[in-house]
Amino acid sequence: MTTTEPRNPYRPGLGEVPPVLAGREPIIDRFYLDLEQVGEGGTARETALYGLRGMGKTALLGELVRAARQAEWLAVRVETESEVGSLVSTIAGGVARPRVLPVGWDRGSFLNRFGEFAAGAGINVVGLGGVDARIRVKTKEAETRPSEVLVDLYQELGRIAADQGRGVALLIDETQRARVEDLRGLFRAISEAKTEQLPVITAFAGLLETPDLLMSAATSAERVHFEEIGVLDPAATYRALRTPADRAGVVFDQDGLDMLIEFSEGYPYFIQQLGSDSWNVRSDPERIGPDDAERAIALSRRQFERGALGRRWVELPEWGRHVVAAISVLVDRPAQWVEMGKVAELVGKTSTELSMTRRRLRDRGAVDTERGQIRITQPGFHWYAAGLVERGELELRIVSV
Ligand SMILES: Nc1ncnc2c1ncn2[C@@H]1O[C@H](COP(=O)(O)OP(=O)(O)OP(=O)(O)O)[C@@H](O)[C@H]1O
Ligand SMILES: [Mg+2]
Repeated sequence: MTTTEPRNPYRPGLGEVPPVLAGREPIIDRFYLDLEQVGEGGTARETALYGLRGMGKTALLGELVRAARQAEWLAVRVETESEVGSLVSTIAGGVARPRVLPVGWDRGSFLNRFGEFAAGAGINVVGLGGVDARIRVKTKEAETRPSEVLVDLYQELGRIAADQGRGVALLIDETQRARVEDLRGLFRAISEAKTEQLPVITAFAGLLETPDLLMSAATSAERVHFEEIGVLDPAATYRALRTPADRAGVVFDQDGLDMLIEFSEGYPYFIQQLGSDSWNVRSDPERIGPDDAERAIALSRRQFERGALGRRWVELPEWGRHVVAAISVLVDRPAQWVEMGKVAELVGKTSTELSMTRRRLRDRGAVDTERGQIRITQPGFHWYAAGLVERGELELRIVSV
């Protein structure tokens, strides 16, 4: 091995920053506009990104953090925890971390002011501004009235930012874990900050249930900009796969690319794994060809079967696996629609008998239904299920006990 061998540029694995964040430009552009508007004393609607695991919600939030920091805003991405009252300490904890402050902010005065506020609000910040800053909600007051403290926290952060002539962006990930009570407090904090024209922007990311959860927490959530984060189109998938190799001086042959684009179904989680495996298996250091793509598909496929995809499959409701498998043998392309009646016939049940299963599959994002038609929406389920049927590991007919 030579020392000049460039490092694998692809980033498989959840939460990894992709080398090229493809296909999300409209959302990023709108966020830039929001920053501008709020920065000029206006308001903006909150954004909520929702979608299946591995679609790239966290990666996109990361990009929004970068956008805000570029504008010299204080920007933090936090992951929600499921205990009641934890939103306050999660957000405060995010703000208390080092390197959160953009250039141009006076670190000393920020830490002083935030520390003073935290102490008054009963939020105990251990090691504020240090690498191991930890937050404890200390007093009875903060424990019993977390939503009041959230309102105060928003106000204080907004004022600190306004005094700097900048703003604050709070990006809340894994929103589906949050408690309704906490979210209710958060929406109160958001609307009170808006009333005072404070420069604070909030964005959410979470699984498919996120919109319903937010709406059940506050009626003002109706005004949130809900954005479904789905698969990338072929042009974006092409860029996501090709550009990182290009930059490293490795040529991606069109035939190989076409195979990977098709197999990936535009699913960001698949794209990075396929890119990474193609890079690793290539025999010519300067090019990735169709043979490499073929080997990469075989390798990645095994990874997916043993990993998240296989797990998601076994978590499906019992009849659901038969339904998905029946769809997969009836269609030619992964996300193609098919008549519900044909699926029902193949599994040996009536459409009515399957209605409950259908709903549960839809709630999990495995399928989509529309006017008597059904299609698979979880990337990978098409080939996964078809493979099980082909190898005789799954019977299509549902045998009731
Ligand atoms: N727009 C994109 N273009 C290319 N690759 C992407 C894109 N978005 C995400 N990825 C890659 O896809 C994978 C999954 O991304 P990410 O972890 O952000 O998904 P997620 O939606 O947050 O998943 P989860 O719901 O499990 O948290 C990562 O490897 C990431 O680098
Ligand atoms: Mg994520």
